[in-house]
Amino acid sequence: MYYPDEVIEEVRSRSDIVSVISGYVKLQRRGSNYFGLCPFHNEKSPSFSVSPAKQMYYCFGCGAGGSVFNFIMEYENYTFPEAVRHLADQAGIAIPEEEDSEEVRRERDRKTRVLELNKMAARFYYYQLRSPQGARGMEYLKNRALTDETIKHFGLGYAGTNSTVLYRYLKSQGISDQLLKDSGLMQVNERQGMYDKFWNRVIFPIMDVNHKVIGFGGRVMGDGKPKYLNSPETVVFDKSRNLYGLNYARSSKQKEFLVCEGYMDVISMHQAGFTNAVASLGTALTSRHATILKRYTDEVILTYDSDEAGIRAALRAIPLLKEAGVSTRVLHMEPYKDPDEFIKALGTEAFQERIDQAENSFLFELSVMEKSYDMKDPDGKTRFFQAVAGRIAGFELEIERENYIGAVVARYQTSYEGMRKMVMNHLMQGAPVRTAPRPADRERRAEKENGILKSQRLLLTWLVEYPYLYPTVSAYVRPEDFSDELYREVATMLYGQLEKQELNPARIVNHFTETDQQRTVAQIFNTEVPVASQAEQEKAIAETIRKIADNALRQKSEKMNLADIQAQQAFLDAQKRQQSLSGLHISLQAGKNKA
Ligand code: UTP
Ligand code: MN
Repeated sequence: MYYPDEVIEEVRSRSDIVSVISGYVKLQRRGSNYFGLCPFHNEKSPSFSVSPAKQMYYCFGCGAGGSVFNFIMEYENYTFPEAVRHLADQAGIAIPEEEDSEEVRRERDRKTRVLELNKMAARFYYYQLRSPQGARGMEYLKNRALTDETIKHFGLGYAGTNSTVLYRYLKSQGISDQLLKDSGLMQVNERQGMYDKFWNRVIFPIMDVNHKVIGFGGRVMGDGKPKYLNSPETVVFDKSRNLYGLNYARSSKQKEFLVCEGYMDVISMHQAGFTNAVASLGTALTSRHATILKRYTDEVILTYDSDEAGIRAALRAIPLLKEAGVSTRVLHMEPYKDPDEFIKALGTEAFQERIDQAENSFLFELSVMEKSYDMKDPDGKTRFFQAVAGRIAGFELEIERENYIGAVVARYQTSYEGMRKMVMNHLMQGAPVRTAPRPADRERRAEKENGILKSQRLLLTWLVEYPYLYPTVSAYVRPEDFSDELYREVATMLYGQLEKQELNPARIVNHFTETDQQRTVAQIFNTEVPVASQAEQEKAIAETIRKIADNALRQKSEKMNLADIQAQQAFLDAQKRQQSLSGLHISLQAGKNKA
């Protein structure tokens, strides 16, 4: 972090979270909080909440959350110092520039300049396409059935046959050679010096989620090679983290996302009304792409090319998406090659039908697997089912295994009992991972841990909402009683603030440097259980305190070493505190209600 704490606090206290977020999201007051549609995932009913009292936001749908800084970081794709500076500018606070190291400042300037340069270049290509010299490009795009509206919507452009026009134009605007080099828009060779990377191609600007042009793709208008040229990686362009079309797809109304391979597929699908389509642009889908997708959706439909390469790409993408918590289906494109060709040939309704019929990713994997067995031969078929059973045995949950046995039986007309026994055999043969805590035990234990963590989050939320409960709560529950290291750290800081009567939860969020941690802290301070009345709420608080104290005592006794006097003393203290708990009664002060 490059700014002293006081500076950050000053900026925060003068950037009211409700008014800042109102600039991006339509918010409506509901009780003591504001609600709106989450800008970080796709939703139809508002689960995105902003608390003026906590100066925090939290989405109950996707778990995005944090302070006003986190919001700006996530929305604008800024680093923490960039978010601080942005909000300081908005609030008219002068902050010391020299806090940044020289290197950081130069890097930031480089990013801003490259983005500005990209915008200039995109405009240039855009006008070229509409000029007389651009007629060839326009004709090509029209031949590919793109409407004027689509061409404009995606900002398509044209680079003519002269390979130095952009170079000369940008030089005339006073752009330095160094910046031109940084932008990836130019190529250099010894004889010619610097010249345009893209010429004699139609141009596809690539935008990030905030509609900033981060790079370009250019297609030959015919059969030349390479078919597409793309910007190299630059300070602002990282293929593994950007999805073409996401700037529009993020606000599409459909709940699932369509993931395809290329520029033209995205554009055709959007033109046909499937505005939830994105592409990973010729590179394989990465786990980072999967994580980004998870922000916006729980379900992806792969609309890859129907060829060998498309199938391989789908097989690679499925586990990555699963890992990120996204469930996947696969769309069958046959007999067409890709979404663009399909839609052109059969139209929107037929494509929608294929979307509705898209196949569960596991069954898709099986149909690929099937091809390497001779299914007409009884032995071949048995070997195939053996392999299928092996795959099913790999599913963690019993219910998942049962559902897939059912699906396989239905598809391949085999016996349920036979299939189930094969799966059981696989489970028994026990891959080592399976013999260690049995899944059922593991599930039960995980559930219990989740339960206690949820109680601990609730207590911390209540402490923020009813700070006057602090003396009572702290008499029974100490920061070390929280079971997770992050929770303990948060509790320690919160207790410190409450002790000094300087409650400031947003500050605790930004004490942490990792986004994951900041999100967890936002979750900790925004935990809720449904309660019907104040009396019920009071009872819930008392019970939660009891539950956490019990758990802490149990853990102390499990870990206690009889030779360790200190540990024994701590245990006895905790026991005493816990015994006095039987008479605990919480009373919430009317009027001093929920923050
Ligand atoms: P495809 O070869 O499937 O092209 O490549 P396409 O999308 O169907 O394009 P059209 O319809 O022929 O115009 C899929 C994607 O792979 C990347 C591009 O992002 C392309 O959209 N690609 C392909 C390249 O980067 N370079 C190439 O030479 C080819
Ligand atoms: Mn195509």
